[in-house]
Amino acid sequence: MAPAVDPLIDRCRAAGQPALADALAALQGDPRERLAAQVAEIDLELVAELCERFVGSEESHQLGAVEPADAIALPETEVDRQRDEIARERGEQHLGEGKVALVLLAGGQGSRLGFEGPKGNFPFAPITGRTLFDFFAARIDALRMRYDTALPWFIMTSPVNDAITRETFATADYFGLDPDSVHFMVQGTMPAVDATAGQILLEAPDRVSVSPDGHGGLLGTLRRSGALDLMADSGIETLFTFQVDNPLVRIARPQFLGHHLFAGAEMSSIAVRKTVPEENVGVIAKIDGRAGVIEYSDLPAALANQREADGRLSYWAGSIAIHCIERGFVERLTDGRLGLPFHRALKKVPHVDASGQLVDPVEPNGIKFETFLFDALPLAHASVTLEAAREEEFSPIKNAEGVDSPQTARVHMNRLYARWFEAAGVPIPVGADGEPVDLEIDPRVALNADELRDALPDDFEVTGPTALGLSTMVEG
Ligand code: UD1
Repeated sequence: MAPAVDPLIDRCRAAGQPALADALAALQGDPRERLAAQVAEIDLELVAELCERFVGSEESHQLGAVEPADAIALPETEVDRQRDEIARERGEQHLGEGKVALVLLAGGQGSRLGFEGPKGNFPFAPITGRTLFDFFAARIDALRMRYDTALPWFIMTSPVNDAITRETFATADYFGLDPDSVHFMVQGTMPAVDATAGQILLEAPDRVSVSPDGHGGLLGTLRRSGALDLMADSGIETLFTFQVDNPLVRIARPQFLGHHLFAGAEMSSIAVRKTVPEENVGVIAKIDGRAGVIEYSDLPAALANQREADGRLSYWAGSIAIHCIERGFVERLTDGRLGLPFHRALKKVPHVDASGQLVDPVEPNGIKFETFLFDALPLAHASVTLEAAREEEFSPIKNAEGVDSPQTARVHMNRLYARWFEAAGVPIPVGADGEPVDLEIDPRVALNADELRDALPDDFEVTGPTALGLSTMVEG
């Protein structure tokens, strides 16, 4: 049923949104109904609370007492290696018992990359041009075969990209996966407000400007969409969450699962050493004695630059946004009103002004509100941070050029595969830039160096760009 508009107009005024009230009052007929339906869905009291805190203030996030992270470091000794081996076996057992679900965060807008459509559709692979979604699906298929397990895949989209993401999967026959094993869930949105008066912005006279409410929205989305119930019914205990932008992600890495389980952790993270103090990664640290992430935009320069006696960064633990999360933890957190704190982001938000004119700002003019999944970390009773080798599992595609771009991911993937080939006794030629030639290995052929060695015939040679597929060898 359409909401009654007059009480809604009063609510807007009471919640400090006179501009929105005026916009509603000025409309008639269908446009009025449309805007009213959208406004009725907005938690105006929450927006008022956030505006009170964030509008006209520089405050972004309150930091507590911060110390460097406690982490399980990369193995150095034989004892460390044995420790990791036992963790790997524990993780494999959990996988084999069908207790793990995969959760992909793919609701973002990907604006920095400048690629139209969901980022998962980005054709990152140098020879085959396969997309991130396609590649993840192949990895998941390989893992399902290896552990003879269901390993359901939940994909969080947002209203901005949900339809096109589903269409992509349907058109591609789910990249060879059973359609019933892939579940889409749509995250919520928050309205953008103008940065000076906190008035909700309209992108058209009858439409509020909304954007995804941040990946912290995952928790509520899991519950609302029925995904949590589905997981409980199918015996899932642990969620492995990852971002759409990192082709190197080692999905459901057993060793990580194992360490998480041994510690009885509710939420765990993977860290890599930061390259430079100003690298754009969140830092895993201890905040008021508990594990947490300080987002790069909130990290004071003094902490970012602090070094230990050996010259290494004190706040070294860059979050690669990969987590193990217990289903029971998500249930606990979503039982009442979800308490993840909101962060503000100052953005350029095109909008219509009071006279109905479209304004395309040149300077950031609006505030968007987001919650972050990693803010659940301090709420966990126990948490593990596992250090990982960057070159093995992190090379995100975020920018069109320069750092964290398709070019850097390509080089890093080529180097990774070159190491696998070389470990199998196959030398890899380098190009004029001194980098290995383009290489691709379908995850169904090999998920790691050991599997590649087993899969390759004795006389295998690489003489140029090579895409190693299940049934074919394609010379690029
Ligand atoms: C993110 C992390 C950062 C981490 C880095 C590692 C945040 C706020 N920061 O930075 O700590 O070190 O990745 O690569 O996440 N997404 C949604 N819904 C949303 C917003 C984002 O699903 O509402 C998804 C995106 O699709 C993407 C991921 O979350 O997969 C990351 O979002 P993005 O805003 O690009 O974060 P970064 O600044 O790259």
